[in-house]
Amino acid sequence: MAEFSLPANSVVKQGKLFKAAESASNTRRFLVYRYDPSTGKNPYIDTYEVDMDSCGPMVLDGLLKIKDQIDSTLSLRRSCREGICGSCSMNIDGTNTLACTKSIAEIKGDVKVYPLPHQPVVKDLVSDLTNFYAQYASIEPWMKTDSATPPDRERLQSKQDREKLDGLYECILCACCSTACPSYWWNSDRFLGPAAILNAYRWIVDSRDEAAGERLDDLEDPFKLYRCHSIMNCAKVCPKGLNPAQAIAETKKLLVQRKM
Ligand code: SF4
Ligand code: F3S
Ligand code: FES
Repeated sequence: MAEFSLPANSVVKQGKLFKAAESASNTRRFLVYRYDPSTGKNPYIDTYEVDMDSCGPMVLDGLLKIKDQIDSTLSLRRSCREGICGSCSMNIDGTNTLACTKSIAEIKGDVKVYPLPHQPVVKDLVSDLTNFYAQYASIEPWMKTDSATPPDRERLQSKQDREKLDGLYECILCACCSTACPSYWWNSDRFLGPAAILNAYRWIVDSRDEAAGERLDDLEDPFKLYRCHSIMNCAKVCPKGLNPAQAIAETKKLLVQRKM
């Protein structure tokens, strides 16, 4: 797995140490990024000793135990705890991933937890993904049609056409890929990033959608699409095993093909 630099606004000043009870013999140390922009104070790292005999196996279990039993001021997002909602994405042990599917046992040494890199921080592990979601909305992620809707049934799709959406429709919009992409770090105002482009491609290749040309026109832009330089971090980190780099390459190919 690729490792990434810390978030731009991180410092590594040591914060508080929360020690486990003397009786706990099976503990792990969690080093957790803390930042509350409303205080005007610099970010810092708090250290928590977690008793693993009374903790679930995933990093999210450890963070929730910290929040519930040690330090209720810690902020994080989560919902499904099943790798489905995409809410608990963060940088764990140097890699963007989902806290609910990342096993503590897989991590050697201290469990280092940061928010997603190079995004503004709302508080602690909660990144501000406003720009990320706006970029997703900009690709108009819904089926667009001009032809009349069949009066008596849905718009049908062959099995083969349906299979073209495999590896695309599973995206949970966790932002692990886009926030692992150096090109996105430097140009996130104009480069759409791997997640939004993968989702644009998902609609371009959907046999029921009738706006592929319009969608390609919109992507044919030196920044929106062509700031991808095939760095491949996006494919390395996707917790759903998707390959946004390939979707981007296929989109570029379609743009070339339509000129020929
Ligand atoms: Fe997350 Fe993967 Fe979708 Fe990127 S492509 S947003 S990493 S699920
Ligand atoms: Fe970035 Fe992935 Fe392209 S990491 S540069 S979007 S291949
Ligand atoms: Fe839903 Fe982790 S809590 S993906």
